Amino acid sequence: MTQQVPDEAWQLLEEWLPDNDDPDRPVMTLATVDEAGLPDARSVLLSEYDRDGFSLHTDATSRKVGQLDARPGAALVLRWPDALRQLVVRGTAERAHRAETDRAYALRSPYLQRLAWVNTPAVAQLPPQERRAKWADFAAIHPVPDPPASWVGFLVRPTSLTFWTGEPDSVSHRREYRLGASGWLRTELPG
Ligand SMILES: Cc1cc2nc3c(=O)[nH]c(=O)nc-3n(C[C@H](O)[C@H](O)[C@H](O)COP(=O)(O)O)c2cc1C
Repeated sequence: MTQQVPDEAWQLLEEWLPDNDDPDRPVMTLATVDEAGLPDARSVLLSEYDRDGFSLHTDATSRKVGQLDARPGAALVLRWPDALRQLVVRGTAERAHRAETDRAYALRSPYLQRLAWVNTPAVAQLPPQERRAKWADFAAIHPVPDPPASWVGFLVRPTSLTFWTGEPDSVSHRREYRLGASGWLRTELPG
């Protein structure tokens, strides 16, 4: 049984998502499960995608990392309001290798590279003007920083992919690909 995204779903992903080298990265909602079994969610950038899954990058000390390390089940929601499209991915998150996280960091904008260094719990405690001063000091000393040790990535390997499409003059519709014991199954669902 292959875990990779099936051909049909892959064609849709390529149609819906920007190329990985497009600097304008899509925003997705990442849902995780906390230590009490309750859902948690936040926005993250889709760093890149391939037939194995969807990559995101973040800080190792963040809540989401503790949650994903302890309970790797995750869901992603991407929306294209103007195109009347939504993609929902459910799957399992695993840590990315260092070479992959380094590559993703190099592709981040200078602003996001600095953010990975300066956006710390200690800086969060400071008043706004001191946070600005920390930011300016860091930018002056490290114009193009290397990734901090806390920069980590996750690959969400899908076990289901649900492509929702809306239409102004017809019903909305979902096409779902679900990974079962004998491979990927496609079902058509109401929107
Ligand atoms: C549009 C947008 C994109 C974001 N992208 C990321 C991201 O790629 N990685 C990240 O760690 N946080 C990103 N954030 C911040 C997260 O939403 C979140 O506040 C932070 O990561 C802490 O989340 P946690 O406490 O649930 O771990 C983004 C926020 C917004 C509004």
